[in-house]
Amino acid sequence: ALTMKEEDKLYRYNGVLYPIIMSPPENLKALEGLEARSDDVMLVAYPKCGFNWMVAVLQKIIAASAGLEKSDSKIAPLIEFYSPEVQKVRVFYQRRTTISNAPSPRLIGTHLPPKDFPASFSAKKTKMLVVFRNPKDTAVSYFHFTNKNPVLPTAKSWDAFYSDFMSGEVAWGSYFDHALAWEKRMDDPDVLILTYEYLKENLQDGVRQVSKFFGFKLTEEQVKAISEASTFNAMKESSKDSHGQMGNVFFRKGEVGDWKNHFSEAQSKQMDAEFEKRLAGTKIAALLKY
Ligand code: A3P
Repeated sequence: ALTMKEEDKLYRYNGVLYPIIMSPPENLKALEGLEARSDDVMLVAYPKCGFNWMVAVLQKIIAASAGLEKSDSKIAPLIEFYSPEVQKVRVFYQRRTTISNAPSPRLIGTHLPPKDFPASFSAKKTKMLVVFRNPKDTAVSYFHFTNKNPVLPTAKSWDAFYSDFMSGEVAWGSYFDHALAWEKRMDDPDVLILTYEYLKENLQDGVRQVSKFFGFKLTEEQVKAISEASTFNAMKESSKDSHGQMGNVFFRKGEVGDWKNHFSEAQSKQMDAEFEKRLAGTKIAALLKY
């Protein structure tokens, strides 16, 4: 078990908080040298917006289009978790594969905002799937996650976490800053932005859109099979295989609207006002139906 003091678990890099264990400064510095490929499959999401869900969907899409029964990569591949040696030499979750010699298409993920991406991703016009989620449910999911994940600090209370979330004093920074950064890329042909809520309602359609966006050709049968294997219940059931002991931590409730069980009336109003102030009239607000 991790015995660090809570306040030592996060540190600041370029003004934003990161977990020191998983993303020490040398990782973030070394990212500058990461070589993108034009056929990388890049997945981007602010924490708790559905990253692991889409990792599973993308793994299945890649495997199916290669005629494989099962994908062979196991854990969410966040580039900020790669150590400098690992970046050059090996990906930690797949001991024998290195990021530089992994076969295409590589599935690459990050919670970073676009300005912090290695430069070569834009040079190579790498396609990116970006997932957003209603900020209230995101905050609630993050609260439970930070309390269960030993690399993140345990919150003193929901109220304390809520206030850190609102001021962006959480790992990977402000939800609102991320949303504004992606708003600028909304019409970029290399970017597909989907929401958690949309995927919850239209998973088959989401799978179809995602595979088309990345240029994979799936049969309708494959689309259907992948969606069925990617529902919350299906994924929770297989989470011991995919995430080991962290299974229950990553697959908690999987619902839309759980914020109602946590937010006070005043917090809900304050979040609405902040959303209005930062994101009113944006396309991302429309996507989130805010
Ligand atoms: P909850 O905490 O609200 O349950 P991330 O993968 O970005 O960390 O996001 C985690 C959130 O996505 C958790 O939300 C988790 O339950 C939810 N989730 C994971 N798999 C899902 C699925 N197949 N369908 C719906 N939600 C899913």
